[in-house]
Amino acid sequence: MKLGVIMGGLSSEREVSLQSGKEIMAHLDQNRYEVYPIEITRRDELADKVKGLDMALLALHGSYGEDGTIQGMLETLGIAYTGSGVLSSSLCMNKNVSKKLLRYEGLFTPDWLCWGSIGDYSAEAVEKLGYPIVVKPNSGGSSIGIQIVKSSQDLRAAVEEAFRWDVEVLIEQYIKGEELTCSIVDGKLLPIIGIQSKGSEWFDYYAKYEDGGAEEQVVHLTPEVDEQVRSAALVSYWTLKCNVYARVDMLLRDGIPYVLEMNTLPGMTRNSLLPKSAQAAGMTYSQLLDVIISLSLE
Ligand code: DAL
Ligand code: MG
Repeated sequence: MKLGVIMGGLSSEREVSLQSGKEIMAHLDQNRYEVYPIEITRRDELADKVKGLDMALLALHGSYGEDGTIQGMLETLGIAYTGSGVLSSSLCMNKNVSKKLLRYEGLFTPDWLCWGSIGDYSAEAVEKLGYPIVVKPNSGGSSIGIQIVKSSQDLRAAVEEAFRWDVEVLIEQYIKGEELTCSIVDGKLLPIIGIQSKGSEWFDYYAKYEDGGAEEQVVHLTPEVDEQVRSAALVSYWTLKCNVYARVDMLLRDGIPYVLEMNTLPGMTRNSLLPKSAQAAGMTYSQLLDVIISLSLE
């Protein structure tokens, strides 16, 4: 099978994607796949580079990679690709829209506001939400452009910074709880991982990607809480129409899982959570890739 590993891309997560791609390339069984590394640096490159492939393995993250645009292009070109389809990719990339859907399904997600321009700025609305709050680019990833704001005097600068990364900004209630992540492959949960950031107050870019930036271990929850977390993860996965694999990030407070977001192309770097979760289930990185590839061909 001619398998192109597509990486790099145009989003703020380009560097993360290059790391995911490198790790994926190192773990693909060369006897099984004819592997072609494809690094994207411009929007118009993809169509030429994917010609003749049997499948595109997407190591991309963020906009023009994880948001349905490349999925749509590959659908149009008739080339199979890994992971979720166009609709799910677009929904999950947009935190505001996905949170609305999750709430509609009765799941917990922190209260939030979404602003489409700095003209929407309202210190009063944020007061009502209550500090601290988290300011995020609505369609960002890897914590890029995110700040935790503890008082009103730091609000405007954080919002302006988030607008540097995206055309919409989310202002989300800060939930002080245990960070959990649930990896799902083929509609089934892998072991749930708890995250403890080291040297950072929260699971920021440094904690995510630097060696030793965080301690990530399988969590042992009480049966009731375990059931709540599993159910929240799976309902999120089905509600947001995910396919093949995904990773749901949550905060657990007082036994309640608050869903933050769904990642349809979760990080695959050497410090990433999905491969760790797979390993905890007894699946090597290479086996995980084989499963993702075969499920994506179905
Ligand atoms: N957005 C990064 C790659 C992740 O969720 O793992
Ligand atoms: Mg994300």
